[in-house]
Amino acid sequence: MRECKLLSFAIVLVLFLVNGVNGEDPYRFFTWKITYGDIYPLGVKQQGILINGQFPGPQIDAVTNDNLVISVFNYLREPFLISWDGIQQRRNSWQDGVYGTNCPILPGKNFTYNIQVKDQIGSFFYFPSFLFHKAAGGFGGIRIWSRPKIPVPFPNPAGDFTVLAGDWYKTNHYILRRSYLEFGRNLPSPDGLLINGRGWNGYTFTVDQGRTYRFRISNVGLTTSINFRIQGHKLKLVEVEGSHTLQNIYDSLDIHLGQSYSVLVTADQPVQDYYVVVSSRFTLGYSPQQPFFTTAIRAREFQVLSLGVLAHRLLGPSARQDLSASGPRPNPQGSYHYGLIKPARTIMLATLLLISMGSRDTPLKLADYFKIPGVFSVGSIPTNPTGGSGYLQTSVMHANFREYVEIVFQNWEDTVQSWHIDGYSFFVMGMDGGQWTPASRVRYNLRDTVARSTTQVYPRSWTAIYVALDNVGMWNVRSENWARQYLGQQFYLRVYSPANSWRDEYPIPRNARLCGRARGRRTRPL
Ligand SMILES: *[C@@H]1O[C@H](CO)[C@@H](O)[C@H](O)[C@H]1NC(C)=O
Repeated sequence: MRECKLLSFAIVLVLFLVNGVNGEDPYRFFTWKITYGDIYPLGVKQQGILINGQFPGPQIDAVTNDNLVISVFNYLREPFLISWDGIQQRRNSWQDGVYGTNCPILPGKNFTYNIQVKDQIGSFFYFPSFLFHKAAGGFGGIRIWSRPKIPVPFPNPAGDFTVLAGDWYKTNHYILRRSYLEFGRNLPSPDGLLINGRGWNGYTFTVDQGRTYRFRISNVGLTTSINFRIQGHKLKLVEVEGSHTLQNIYDSLDIHLGQSYSVLVTADQPVQDYYVVVSSRFTLGYSPQQPFFTTAIRAREFQVLSLGVLAHRLLGPSARQDLSASGPRPNPQGSYHYGLIKPARTIMLATLLLISMGSRDTPLKLADYFKIPGVFSVGSIPTNPTGGSGYLQTSVMHANFREYVEIVFQNWEDTVQSWHIDGYSFFVMGMDGGQWTPASRVRYNLRDTVARSTTQVYPRSWTAIYVALDNVGMWNVRSENWARQYLGQQFYLRVYSPANSWRDEYPIPRNARLCGRARGRRTRPL
């Protein structure tokens, strides 16, 4: 009897480790067909990327710790990958779905992602990460709900709306890529802004007077920071990329590329239609008063006054965490004293990082695992790049497991930048104009800043973050400006543990696709 029990324990453990998912937590299964299809987001027909016939793709709803098994079948004529913005993939960069970790899914092929949304709550999105496909759609919302017994720091809203907003081009993604980016030309200005795949007057959120609704807004665009507001209504900020925030009230919110926010909106105005407005920000240099296009969506029975003067407030520096709120686990998020720990080192990302990632045929993660030489060399990103011409010689930065680091993004350009780190959320310590110096630390928020996965860096300004490198893997650090990202403004952070233990990182999945110089290797010993 005792042996029997031991045996079954062993089997469960093996399943758990082999699949990179936790057998005790619920599973949700998805089958996605990726196809081209006609879409008309700005009134003209263009080729979109559909998931199960939908643009945007289907919403993923999950509860903290759920296992998501997502089978993606590629019916495009091009290789394809999906990545999961803000989903931490604990111990599992194998599922991250970027070109540095995964071989693309070839036309006619499929890949099943096994993702556990371990210890996460909040609002995120998925998107196609390869070949500029993001310009054709293929993105969708991800909501991770708290487990039933975990208190949420606001009453259950009457409804929960996903708002996938962003700039949009009428030009086909292939032409944007081949005729602009690959010739070193800048993309033209976007043709408009979309909300949930629709342009002007295309979408309605229906609400009941007097009730309160949650809106989860993500900027899924390519190149443009946006400002979000609802005519005549206040926005109460409650969540930023998985952190519950202090519930400040805003007239409008700036949402930079790749960022996600949740706000509560009470329909406390007379019954009539109101506009949900998304406008561009910062695109023409630094001129916040002049959005050059606006899309508005009517919110039926959403109330109020005239448009009047729209206040633009910068959200970023003031978003603060609600230290009394529970996160995914019962212990308060604030119990992690991020501000009291001294980072082991500071990494300055001061230059325009532009490296060519295009010529590699083997994902870095696979090259690392199979010890294939010549694909990358580790560690030659200077911790302190000098001058303005510090080109990276490699696309991989080495870091040690459990290292606590400070990263300073210094932006000398006239446009706002947006930086994202896969596999992590990080503490935004501060941001300010001019040159960062060690003295800038005096003004860091050491108490209640938000932990998030994407931060803006204002023009001619710096943003400093602290990050605890507690997730072994090969993690993409990238500009969320998709033209920049495509041209190589990204690198990989290889968080390494010499222990080489399955406790720290899951083994390569059995179904891993192998390409380039990893082709023909075995994911399991014979
Ligand atoms: C492709 O789909 C088949 C059938 O569902 C599945 O058995 C196989 O594991 C999938 N391939 C990959 C690489 O995930």
